[in-house]
Amino acid sequence: MSLYVGLMSGTSMDAIDAVLCDIEPNRIDFMGAHSVAIPALLKDKLERACTPDLSVTHYHQLGREYAELCAQAIHQLLKQTRIPVSQVEAVASHGQTLWHAPPKNKGETGFSIQLNDADWLAVKTELPVIFDFRARDLALGGQGAPLVPAFHQFIFGNASTDPIAVLNLGGIANISFLGSSAKQAIGFDTGPANTLLDQWIARHKSERFDHNGVWAQQGALDTALLNALLNDPYFSHPPPKSSGREYFNLTWLEQFIGERYRPVDVQRTLVELTAKSVAQSLNELPETPTKLVVCGGGAFNRFLLERIQHCLSDPIPVVDSSKFGVDPQHVEAMAFAWLGWCFDNKKPANLPSVTGASQLAILGKRVSA
Ligand SMILES: Nc1ncnc2c1ncn2[C@@H]1O[C@H](COP(=O)(O)OP(=O)(O)OP(=O)(O)O)[C@@H](O)[C@H]1O
Ligand SMILES: [Mg+2]
Repeated sequence: MSLYVGLMSGTSMDAIDAVLCDIEPNRIDFMGAHSVAIPALLKDKLERACTPDLSVTHYHQLGREYAELCAQAIHQLLKQTRIPVSQVEAVASHGQTLWHAPPKNKGETGFSIQLNDADWLAVKTELPVIFDFRARDLALGGQGAPLVPAFHQFIFGNASTDPIAVLNLGGIANISFLGSSAKQAIGFDTGPANTLLDQWIARHKSERFDHNGVWAQQGALDTALLNALLNDPYFSHPPPKSSGREYFNLTWLEQFIGERYRPVDVQRTLVELTAKSVAQSLNELPETPTKLVVCGGGAFNRFLLERIQHCLSDPIPVVDSSKFGVDPQHVEAMAFAWLGWCFDNKKPANLPSVTGASQLAILGKRVSA
C-alpha cells in the first residue's frame, strides 16, 4: 500500500477537503474523505488576507490557524478510515491561495501564494507534508495552473477511448481536454464559477452559497450585463491562462452593473456567465468531446448544469464524475494526493502545453514528519 492524504481548499474558501488514497503507478483507490467547513470568522480573515499588502505577522498567524484546521481534517479522516498514521506516506497539501499572479506575457514569470504552514502541520500530524506545488512551474515561466489536467488524464483518460472534456466547477472553472490521440494536452481556467455566485449571494442574502441555484433561477437574465461581462478580455484570451479571486471578484463585477438592478437578476446572469464561458471554451477545442464530465462543488448546482447543457452548441451529454466512480467533491483533493505521490516518485506532473512552462518539472517541496 502507498497511502497519501490529499488536502484541498480552493478559491471558494468553503471547506478543507481531505481524502485518503492508495496510489500505484497506474491506479488510485479512494479510501475515505472528510471535509471541515471553514468557519465564518476564518473565512472572513482569509478573504481579507487576499491582498498583496498582507503583513508578515498576519500571514504567519493565519497560516497557523489554517494549518490547525487542516490537522483536524486529517485526524478525523484517519480516525474514520481506521488507518494508523504510521501507514501513511505523506500529506499533500495545496494550501489556501491568497494571491495568484501568473505571467501576463510570454517571457515573464509570475508568482502564486498559498498559505500553508507545512512544518507546523507536519509536527501536528506526525506526517511528512508535501506542498507549494505551483512554484516550480511558475519559475519556469508557466502559469502554475491548472495543475489538475494531468490527474484528469490519469483517472478519466483511460476510461474512454473517445475524446472527453473534464470541467471542474470550483471557485474558478477549469477545463481539461482529453483527446482521442496522444496530442498535446489542453487545459485552462475558463473563468469564474462559484466564487462570484457565492460572494453575490453572501452580500445580498447572507447565505454561503445558492443551494442548487434556486435563487438564480428566480431571476431574469440581463443580456446587456451578460454581454458586457463576456467582453472582458480574459474570456477571449487564448490559453495558457489561469485566474483567481484577485481578478474575478465583486469589484470586478461592480464595474459592469449599473445603479439600478435586482440582485436576483445579477445572480441569474452570473450563472449564465459561467455557462457561456464554459461553452465558448469547448467550442475552441480541436475536436468536439463526446462527453463533458463535471466535478467540483458546482457539479451539485442543478441549475448551473442545466444552463451549461443549454449553452453547448453541440448537444453532448453533461455527466458528473460519479458516473466514472469518483465523487465530484473529491476529485481536486485526490489530484493533490496524486501530485504528492508524483513528487515522492520523482515524476514530473506539470503539463507544459497547459501551463506554458518551458519544461516538465517535479512539483512541490517536502518537510519531514
Ligand atoms: N448543492 C449545491 N448547489 C449549489 N452550489 C453548490 C452546491 N454544493 C456545492 N456548491 C458550490 O460549490 C462550492 C465549493 O466547491 P469546491 O470545493 O469545488 O470549490 P473550491 O474550494 O473553490 O475548489 P477549486 O477552486 O480549487 O476547484 C461552494 O462554495 C458552492 O458554491
Ligand atoms: Mg472547496
